[in-house]
Amino acid sequence: MSDNKKNIEFIDLKAQYGKYKEEIDTAILNVCSSAQFILGKEVTVLEENLSKFTESKHAISLSSGTDALLLALMALDIKAGDEVITTPFTFYASSEVIAFLGAKPVFIDIFEDTYNMNYNQLEEKINSKTKAIMPISLYGQVADMNMINKIAEKHNIPVIEDACQSFGAMYNGKKSCNLSTIGTTSFFPSKPLGCYGDGGALFTNDDKLATKILAMRNHGQTERYMHEYLGINGRLDTIQAAVLNVKLKYFDDELKTREKIGSRYSNLINALNKNIVTPSIKDDRNSVYAQYSIRVKDRENVIATLTEHSVPTAIHYPKPLHEQKVFDYLGHKRGDFPISELVANEIMSLPMSPFLSETDQDYIVEKLNLAVND
Ligand SMILES: Cc1ncc(COP(=O)(O)O)c(C=O)c1O
Repeated sequence: MSDNKKNIEFIDLKAQYGKYKEEIDTAILNVCSSAQFILGKEVTVLEENLSKFTESKHAISLSSGTDALLLALMALDIKAGDEVITTPFTFYASSEVIAFLGAKPVFIDIFEDTYNMNYNQLEEKINSKTKAIMPISLYGQVADMNMINKIAEKHNIPVIEDACQSFGAMYNGKKSCNLSTIGTTSFFPSKPLGCYGDGGALFTNDDKLATKILAMRNHGQTERYMHEYLGINGRLDTIQAAVLNVKLKYFDDELKTREKIGSRYSNLINALNKNIVTPSIKDDRNSVYAQYSIRVKDRENVIATLTEHSVPTAIHYPKPLHEQKVFDYLGHKRGDFPISELVANEIMSLPMSPFLSETDQDYIVEKLNLAVND
C-alpha cells in the first residue's frame, strides 16, 4: 500500500463504534425514550458493574476524571494550606485540582523506567501539612502502590490513586482503582474505557467517604434541597452510562488485545536495535496502554518523518507541571525534577487502540526505523 493511502487513526474510536454500533445506538435511544437523562437506571447499573469489575465496595460515577479527583480531595477535607504530594510528569488535572482547593501540590520526581512516582523521595516531603498522597498510574501501568501505601499508613495519610489512565490494569492480582483510600478514573473518549463525552468514576471501600461523595457529586445534597456539604454538579449523564455499560461487556477482550499490541510494538521496536526506549512493565503488574509511549533523542525530527508518512503521533507530556506558568508561584526551577524534565524532552506516543491492525503496526514501526537515525 502506498503511503498516501494510509489512514491510521491515533486512537481508532470509529472502528470501535462500528463494531458495537447496534447495541450502543439501542442503549442511547432507550435513554431518550425513558427521558431519565440524569441519574437514570443505567447509572445505577453502571455503578454495580464498575464495583463488580474492580471489586471495590463503592463505585460512584462522575462527570469527569477531573471531578473525580476534585471530589476525592474535597471528601478528604483538603483545603487551603494543606499539602498533597504528587508528581510533575502527568496531565495537568492531577495538580490542578489540588491548587484549585487552595492546597499546595508538593512534587517529587518519577522513576526513569516506569514514569511513575519515585517513592524513595516520598518520606522526606511528609510533614504535618501533608494531607494526601496522589500517585498517578501513568500510561496504563499502576504506580508502586504497595510501597506508597506502606509509607502513607506509617504517617496515617490517605492515598488517592489517579487511575485516569489505568482503568482495568492489574497490580499484584488486584485491579487499579481499588488499591488505596480512593481511586479515580476517567472515561474521556480516548481512555481505555471511554464514553461519548466526558465521564469518570471514583472508587472506595470506605462507607463514610462514599456517602459523603455521593452527596457531594449532587451539590452536597443529602435529601432533596437539603444541603449538608459544599458540593458540585458532578453527575455522569445517563446516556454516557448507557454507552459504558455496552462497552464494558467487551472491555476484557479489548484489554487482552491492547496488551498483545503493546508487547508486539515493544518486540518489533526493540528488534530495530536503535536508541529507542520502549515501555518498561514490571513483573507484578501489566499495562492497559492508555498510551504506547517511547523515548527518542531527536523527537522533533522523528515526529516530522512519521507525519510525512501519515503516522499520527502525540506528546504526553511536553512540559512538566513544575515548569508550567500557572505554578510559577511554587518557585521551582529547571533542574528540580531532572527525570521528569528528561522524559518530557524525549517522550512521544504512537497510535494505539485494540483496532490497530498488524499491517498498520508493521508500517508504523517501519517508518519509525526510517525516522530514527541510530
Ligand atoms: C492522569 C490524568 N489525570 C486526570 C485526567 C482528567 O480526566 P478528565 O479528562 O476525564 O477530566 C486525565 C485525563 O485526561 C489524566 O490522564
